[in-house]
Amino acid sequence: MMTKAHRTFRPIIFTALAAGVAAAIASLVWFNAYAAAGRLLTADPNAIPADRPVMHRAVTAGQAVYSRQCASCHAAGGQGSVALSTPALNDGDWLYGDGTPAEIERTVSYGIRSHHARSWHLTEMPGYIQATASGTHQIIPLTPSDIRDLTEYLMKLQGEPGDEQAAARGQTLFHISAGCWDCHARDAGGDRATGVPSLTDKIWLYGKGDRQSIFDSIAFGHAGVCPAWIDVLTPAEIRQVALYVYALSHPEDSGESK
Ligand code: HEC
Ligand code: HEC
Repeated sequence: MMTKAHRTFRPIIFTALAAGVAAAIASLVWFNAYAAAGRLLTADPNAIPADRPVMHRAVTAGQAVYSRQCASCHAAGGQGSVALSTPALNDGDWLYGDGTPAEIERTVSYGIRSHHARSWHLTEMPGYIQATASGTHQIIPLTPSDIRDLTEYLMKLQGEPGDEQAAARGQTLFHISAGCWDCHARDAGGDRATGVPSLTDKIWLYGKGDRQSIFDSIAFGHAGVCPAWIDVLTPAEIRQVALYVYALSHPEDSGESK
C-alpha cells in the first residue's frame, strides 16, 4: 500500500533520473564535439576526409568562412569567375599541386603571388609585346604577327579549325624561338609544381578560349594574385575552408552520412 510520502517522492526520483540521463547525453555530445574540434587541428589534413564526423563539422564551418572571404572572387559555389580571372575550385583541376587537403591548405595560408614570403611565386606569364622581364627568363619581344601565329597553334591544340600554316609557324615559335615550352612543358600540358596552366585542356583562366583572349594573354602577360590568409583567419578556419574547397570536387567526402 502506498503512503502519501511515496506518492510525492516518486516523481522527484523520476525527474532526477531524467535530468541525470539528459546531462550524460549532453556531456557525451559536448565531449564528441570537443574531441572532433581537437582532431581537426592535430590530424594529418589528408586523413580528415575519412573521419566523417570531423569532416562534416569542418565542411559546414568552412562553408561559412568561404562565403565570407572567398566567394567574392571565386563565386558562391566555387565556379570561378571569367570577369575576375579566378579559377574554378570545384572542378578537380588544379593549377598548384594535386588538390590534396594539405596542398589546398598551403595555397590558402600563404596565397599566390601575395606579399607573403612563402606564397606561390615561382613564375608568371611574361608579356611578349613589350618583352616585360620575367624573373628567370630572358624574353625576346614578339611581333603581333608572331603572336597571331602562336594563337593559331594554341587553337589547333584545342582541336579548333584555323589557319594551318600560321599554326605551323606558331608551333615552331612555341618549341624553339619563343621558348613557351620551358614553362608550359613540351606537350603544353602545364606544370603544377610552378602553377603554369595547361594550354591543351580547354580550361581557361583568362577569357573563354577565344582568339582575342589568347592573343592578349601572350601579348600582355598575367600574374594572378590570391591573398594569403595566414594572418587573417585562425588555423582552424584555414583548415575548415581548405576542407570545404576539397569537398567541392569530392562530394562523396563531404562528411554527410549516407
Ligand atoms: C581577391 C580575389 C581572391 C580572393 C578573395 C580569394 N582568391 Fe583564391 N585565387 C584568386 C586568383 C586570382 C587565383 C589564381 C591565381 C593565379 O593566377 O595563379 C586564386 C587561386 C586560388 C587557389 C588555387 C587553385 C588552383 O587551381 O590551384 C585556391 C585553392 C584558392 N584560390 C582558394 C581561395 C580561398 C579558400 C579563398 C578564401 C579564403 C580565396 N581563394 C580567396 C583570387 C582570390
Ligand atoms: C616564365 C614562364 C612562362 C613562359 C616563358 C610562358 N608562359 Fe604562358 N603562362 C605562364 C603562367 C605562370 C601563366 C598563368 C599566369 C597566371 O596564373 O596569372 C601563363 C598563362 C598563359 C596563358 C593563359 C592561359 C589561360 O588559362 O588563360 C596563355 C595563352 C599562355 N600562357 C601562352 C604562352 C605562350 C604562347 C608562351 C610563349 C610565347 C608562354 N605562355 C610563355 C608562364 C609562362
